[in-house]
Amino acid sequence: MSQTRAALVTGANRGIGLEVARQLARAGMLVALGARDQSKGEAAAAELLRSEGLELPVIVVDTTDPESCRKAVADTAAMFSSLDVLVNNAGVFLEKTPTGESSAIDVSPETVEATLTTNTIGPMVLTQAAIPLMLQQGYGRIVNMSSGMGQLADMGGQFVGYRMSKAALNAMTRTFAAELGEGPIKINSMCPGWVRTDMGGDDAARSIPEGADTAVWLATLPDDGPSGGFFRDRTPIDW
Ligand SMILES: NC(=O)c1ccc[n+]([C@@H]2O[C@H](COP(=O)([O-])OP(=O)(O)OC[C@H]3O[C@@H](n4cnc5c(N)ncnc54)[C@H](OP(=O)(O)O)[C@@H]3O)[C@@H](O)[C@H]2O)c1
Repeated sequence: MSQTRAALVTGANRGIGLEVARQLARAGMLVALGARDQSKGEAAAAELLRSEGLELPVIVVDTTDPESCRKAVADTAAMFSSLDVLVNNAGVFLEKTPTGESSAIDVSPETVEATLTTNTIGPMVLTQAAIPLMLQQGYGRIVNMSSGMGQLADMGGQFVGYRMSKAALNAMTRTFAAELGEGPIKINSMCPGWVRTDMGGDDAARSIPEGADTAVWLATLPDDGPSGGFFRDRTPIDW
């Protein structure tokens, strides 16, 4: 990287977010480790320092709270004197059941609303807060951690709240991309595949570094890279 870039990764105290933060920091970026719980963030940061000598300050960000989202962006930009990269990674899958089934017919509206608030509205507010700063500095990369479960082209049954949250996140990506046009900010959605995290479970096909790879690629796109796309394995996929 010719210039030291500054990034905020949400939900970075574990799972894919932690790995994205680690890889961006390894590549020389200044990275704020976003966590909704300060102590969990500090524990993850301490482990990164101990194991790799990487120093990542913790920024508290709860995506269910718009003020927390706005403050996290402002605090990151103040701390690093810029905010070049936003990785909207934090997410919940609230429809997990012991049987592995959760029908759209009887899911509660509260569950769906909580999912949308965390997975979609929070990323939208974070993006709204980041864009003016990125426009001002003439550079921005925004990565929205979506899912194949939000892919309309391959929509199946079950888990309607989670599916809606990720399909809506994709709609958000396209809307912002259309408004931002050919400008200096690139915003893209991605699917990490089925990844062995707390959310994905032990049977998932992919390792965490495999799941993080496309996010890191999108976070470091060159100026002639894509915007407004949906990717898996660095390759465009259907919406
Ligand atoms: N794993 C998969 O197979 C898979 C597949 C497709 C897409 N994804 C997406 O990838 C992203 C990361 O998932 P993961 O597998 O790494 O899951 P994970 O291990 O469950 O980690 C989720 C992260 O999000 C954070 N989080 C949850 N609610 C939050 C909130 N309100 N505000 C801020 N942070 C919050 C969690 O913090 P706490 O530790 O405080 O709970 C945690 O850091 C998610 O958006 C998920 O939907 C995952």
